Amino acid sequence: MGGLWGLILFLAIVRFSPSPSPNDLEPSPSLALDQEIEDFFESYWKRPIPLQGLPPPSFTEKETSLSPEACGSCHTQQYADWKESLHSKSMGPGPWGQIIDLTHSSPEEAIQCMTCHAPQGEQIPLVAKKTDREKRTYEKNPHFDSKLQLQGITCAACHVRQHQRFGPLKAEGAATTEYPAGMPNHAGVQRTPYFDKAEFCRDCHQFDPENTLLVNGKPLQDTYREWKNSNWGRGEAGCQECHMPNRRHFWKGIHDAEWVRSGVRTEAQIRQSPSNPWGTLEFGVEVINSAVGHKFPTYITPKVFVRAELLDNAGKPLPGTQQERIIGWDARFEEGKWKEYFDTRIPPGGKSQQTFRWTLPPKAKKIRTWVEVHPDHFYHVHFYPTYLKSQNLTQEGRKLIEKALDDSGRTPYILFEKIFPLN
Ligand code: HEC
Ligand code: HEC
Ligand code: HEC
Ligand code: HEC
Ligand code: HEC
Repeated sequence: MGGLWGLILFLAIVRFSPSPSPNDLEPSPSLALDQEIEDFFESYWKRPIPLQGLPPPSFTEKETSLSPEACGSCHTQQYADWKESLHSKSMGPGPWGQIIDLTHSSPEEAIQCMTCHAPQGEQIPLVAKKTDREKRTYEKNPHFDSKLQLQGITCAACHVRQHQRFGPLKAEGAATTEYPAGMPNHAGVQRTPYFDKAEFCRDCHQFDPENTLLVNGKPLQDTYREWKNSNWGRGEAGCQECHMPNRRHFWKGIHDAEWVRSGVRTEAQIRQSPSNPWGTLEFGVEVINSAVGHKFPTYITPKVFVRAELLDNAGKPLPGTQQERIIGWDARFEEGKWKEYFDTRIPPGGKSQQTFRWTLPPKAKKIRTWVEVHPDHFYHVHFYPTYLKSQNLTQEGRKLIEKALDDSGRTPYILFEKIFPLN
């Protein structure tokens, strides 16, 4: 069984099914330009991406290759950036550990996972038998490349269709790359103004709200809409302006403390200090979404813990004084359905204001406050432990998920910390 993700996907991927339902065909009232963008992406982002077919005979071996290393031999900067990014790791132990078993138990679900995690036709081992419409049986894909499969979201997934390179309009000024004279150039580049549109990222970072499971009215993945309905989406900045500054291929996210600090500010202060011991101390902490282009955080997976405690003169915590608030979306799949516990995510431009109160013991001399980010909390605490209880995992799949469980416990970091003396 595909577990939790399988269920989300089964309900979420209706929009990617080959024959659209009548609802999908309803005309939308969007402007002509928007319609042009929609048309471009509808054909560009067919996923799985159709097999590339035969390369032009004039291509050298390097120009023919779909491997990121081949692209990287001429585009060194983009390769170095991509290699560090999570897009190159999207077939890590967590997704791969599930996909490896799904490929046998439920090929359809495995393919659905790969439409986002390894979307090229050449990365997918199975293809649906054309002759069999009812039973959905699969046969081996003769163009399957097992090495490419584990390389995740490759350069070619975003840039190559039928061996033709697609890219943004030529960059102006400083960002322009010079290529050595005479370097083979894969017959040029099809340049389009749509590479810098947020819609380029949408299909993988947004579930269609019309056709997906809603948890308390919200799709489980809603990043594009969160952006679109904010000031950022009303013209201030698109995904690429923040996540690909100067066209760099960084895509930093919740796992990078410095990057998160660039969009999230924390302020703390003693609001009310009692004049005598055993009076009430009031302490405020504000976490401000100052430059995140969507909710902070956008997914159900991270949790952000805002904590405060009292310390004695030597800096030791006084037992029983630690308090905690959680920023995040706590939704869980329990007994066959999704349940929302709370949603305290911070919208763009908004803030989360927390007040901590203590009756002050005489030994208290300081307050320590800190904000701790657990990027993979949901996977580490809920999903992987439950998944590992399943009886029918292969040894290989189980090993990978055990690794993923371990890895996901190592990602927490402290975003902000400060100690305040008490008079
Ligand atoms: C043998 C060297 C070589 C290889 C291999 C190569 N490229 Fe290129 N690429 C070039 C050259 C030269 C240009 C400049 C072409 C032009 O401006 O017409 C270019 C341009 C581009 C551009 C537009 C860049 C710009 O400056 O605006 C993109 C995007 C691109 N390549 C993607 C890829 C991808 C993806 C791969 C791998 C699948 C790849 N290339 C493999 C040499 C290479
Ligand atoms: C997730 C999709 C994605 C992946 C993966 C990806 N790119 Fe890009 N790439 C883009 C987008 C989007 C732009 C344009 C950004 C903009 O206009 O701000 C771009 C721009 C470029 C450019 C033009 C840079 C310039 O200065 O004009 C080159 C060259 C390029 N990519 C090569 C690569 C190579 C090589 C890889 C793999 C190592 C790669 N890309 C992986 C989405 C991707
Ligand atoms: C619509 C695109 C999409 C589909 C389909 C999809 N994912 Fe993901 N997946 C994402 C995105 C985006 C992230 C990163 C955000 C997050 O943490 O949720 C992600 C993150 C993950 C992660 C955590 C990150 C990691 O590398 O450990 C796992 C595990 C995962 N997906 C497994 C799966 C599995 C298994 C399937 C199929 C049952 C699947 N995904 C289908 C888009 C998708
Ligand atoms: C083909 C599908 C696909 C496309 C297109 C795509 N992404 Fe992703 N993206 C993913 C998946 C899957 C992950 C999760 C990788 C993992 O951790 O396993 C991810 C991860 C990320 C992360 C890191 C998330 C974290 O948890 O830190 C950022 C940031 C991101 N993508 C931004 C973008 C932007 C911006 C674009 C458009 C230029 C884009 N993506 C296009 C599928 C995609
Ligand atoms: C104004 C800058 C900005 C814009 C615009 C923006 N982001 Fe982000 N994004 C950030 C910052 C800062 C973070 C780190 C904080 C966080 O994780 O929420 C982030 C985090 C992420 C993550 C990590 C996962 C998570 O739970 O937060 C993903 C995925 C992502 N962005 C995708 C996108 C996509 C897709 C778009 C466009 C629809 C976009 N971003 C627009 C700044 C931006």
